[in-house]
Amino acid sequence: MQSKRGRLDRFLGAKLQIPRKLVRDVLLAGRVRVDGQIMKEMDRQVDEFSHIQLDGQILQANSPIYIMLHKPIGVVSATKDDQHKTVIELLNCEQREELHIAGRLDLNSSGLLLLTNDSRWSEALMSPTQKVEKVYRVTLANPLTEDYIAAFAEGMYFGFEDIRTQAAKLTILGDHVAEVTLREGKYHQIKRMFGRFRNPVVGLHRVSIGDIVLDQQLAPGESRSLTIAEVASIRKHG
Ligand code: URA
Repeated sequence: MQSKRGRLDRFLGAKLQIPRKLVRDVLLAGRVRVDGQIMKEMDRQVDEFSHIQLDGQILQANSPIYIMLHKPIGVVSATKDDQHKTVIELLNCEQREELHIAGRLDLNSSGLLLLTNDSRWSEALMSPTQKVEKVYRVTLANPLTEDYIAAFAEGMYFGFEDIRTQAAKLTILGDHVAEVTLREGKYHQIKRMFGRFRNPVVGLHRVSIGDIVLDQQLAPGESRSLTIAEVASIRKHG
């Protein structure tokens, strides 16, 4: 999701459906307040959480929302879908239609899913430069061997996108169970990596994203707001 940061004059032009010249007059007349202060600068930067008023009428007053959901298997990580129930439908939050997903999970994967209306926050979370670690518990159809560890650490070439995956950490937890830590999120990445060993993934559960760990109190389908510390653990840039 693209950051909604932009110039105040553009915001007013789009919101009020008036031409640039009129926006200028409205601003110079001191009729606009941003975060409580009269604002006359056309190029003042605002985002989706700037409180904006015209003649005392609120034009925008959003608060940031951050939610963790225990995504169940069989629910789709999308805001709309014709066939399956969506993760948005599981939330009992009034503004749920305004949220977007920060890092999808496949239909048959479960675990930690983050949703927000703060595009700068989700951009930071997904940014390739921040390399936020995502930890998955993976159950395989066939037994694991030590060879997997080096193959995941070395990275794998995916011809379809012409990329090499970054070093991933694999820890064997049992004959058929591994913990995998990724610092990126390519399409079906974990399934494709185990696919190299012709070992089908039969269970995929995301345990954590950075310092945000799926709350053990949440049953599949349940959600809660993130704490201030959890939100702050992902550092926004700019
Ligand atoms: N890798 C996958 O293959 N699926 C997911 O849902 C997440 C990571």
